Amino acid sequence: MQIIITDSYEEMSMAAAKIAAGQIYFKPSSVLGLATGSTPLLMYKKLVEIYKNIDIDFSHIISFNLDEYIGLAQNNQQSYYYFMQENFFRHININIDNIHIPNGMAEDITKECADYDNMIKAAGGIDLQILGIGQNAHIGFNEPDIKFEATTHAVELDNDTIAANARFFADEKDVPRRAISMGIKTIMLAKKVVLLANGSNKAEAVYKAVCGKITPAAPASILQLHRDVMMIVDRKASALLP
Ligand code: F6R
Repeated sequence: MQIIITDSYEEMSMAAAKIAAGQIYFKPSSVLGLATGSTPLLMYKKLVEIYKNIDIDFSHIISFNLDEYIGLAQNNQQSYYYFMQENFFRHININIDNIHIPNGMAEDITKECADYDNMIKAAGGIDLQILGIGQNAHIGFNEPDIKFEATTHAVELDNDTIAANARFFADEKDVPRRAISMGIKTIMLAKKVVLLANGSNKAEAVYKAVCGKITPAAPASILQLHRDVMMIVDRKASALLP
């Protein structure tokens, strides 16, 4: 595991954007695993800037997002589909047919999950997976005590996660209680993983991911077993690291 500590959120975002840009530039048919949330917002912005500066081509890129709320339609402003369109996809030349985000409105959620993993496999697997981390050390929406073997599946969100994500909704009661998430196994099969974290509220989770016992109680701890993980964290999020 490689750990990069940056002085600021901006520097963290730029470092991650450069890695993503390099991946896309030198393998224009890359398969990207993408995250939503506050953490990668500036990374997406920087990547759009790099795209404009050096003309990287997203037209053959295939993307798979980590997760989506169950019960939110694509045009719902709180859906992750909407988030990705607004913050990234509409600013680049990605082919809309190459964008994959679990369908939270699918009638058969079990089939939706199985199909999602099959599509990732058919695309040749994920080349570069971008991750954020929850305060409870979740990755994707794999909450504590999830099975490490899980592939894409429906999850019940923890109360902590619902509370943390309530900031994006008018009221906490509007936060969906369920989501579809790539499983830990799906994430672990990615060829390269870049995890981003900033802020002191992520320090404990980062510590558990890097130095803690490998346990489903801290889902991100499984990343210690991945052969190519880079953690890019700002000083505040790195505060508990030895
Ligand atoms: C988002 C995701 C989540 C977030 C995590 C951190 O697609 O899978 O694991 O990365 O909840 O969220 P933020 O960045 O908002 O602190």
